[in-house]
Amino acid sequence: MPHRKLLENNRRWVAEQIAADPQYFDRLKGVHDPHFLWIGCSDARVPANVVTGTMAGEMFVHRNIANLVVPTDTNMLAVLQYAVEVLKVEDIIVCGHEGCGGVKAAMGTGAPPIVDNWLAGVRTVLRLHEDELSAITDEDARYARLVQLNVAEQVYNLSRTRVVQQAWAQGQTLRLHGWVYALTDGILRDLGVTTVGSEPEPVEQARELPSVAERRAREPELRAG
Ligand code: CO
Repeated sequence: MPHRKLLENNRRWVAEQIAADPQYFDRLKGVHDPHFLWIGCSDARVPANVVTGTMAGEMFVHRNIANLVVPTDTNMLAVLQYAVEVLKVEDIIVCGHEGCGGVKAAMGTGAPPIVDNWLAGVRTVLRLHEDELSAITDEDARYARLVQLNVAEQVYNLSRTRVVQQAWAQGQTLRLHGWVYALTDGILRDLGVTTVGSEPEPVEQARELPSVAERRAREPELRAG
């Protein structure tokens, strides 16, 4: 699609919004009050608003390759601080996805140098879970498991940030969630690593996660597909 098409699409979208709701832009311009922070992958196939069925204004978003929470990433930290301290979001969702090219690249070699540098965060996850991952002989299953463990570790990283620790210490309501989006069926799955101040650490919970095969056996709608 040539880029000019995007501008044409925009004009059509504006006309459609106003036709459906004449106050649409008047309402949005005055308030910025999203209730969620989404930390997801830059992958074009996992747009936060689209896959969650939310509208403009409902979700504050940070995306990077492989949905990493790197404690020295000023960009991520600024988004996090604004979301928690100013917007007072109550839920933060770290969302990974099956088929993540960033996670795949971290398992091998060949990513461009700066991308490869960024993916050090995923390789840390590989090293932390080497025993479990190396015991999975099927490469696709190992890859899918690494996607899950990567999300759990990023939820853990998030829980250790000063912003989150301080919010919890002050009694602020703040839940951290780890989800995985499946490109194959569009379903978002909660990994069950939701963390609030006093609960077990997400990585401990992730050890109890079902394997992909177990999950498929348990979820009838998946078997059908
Ligand atoms: Co990805």
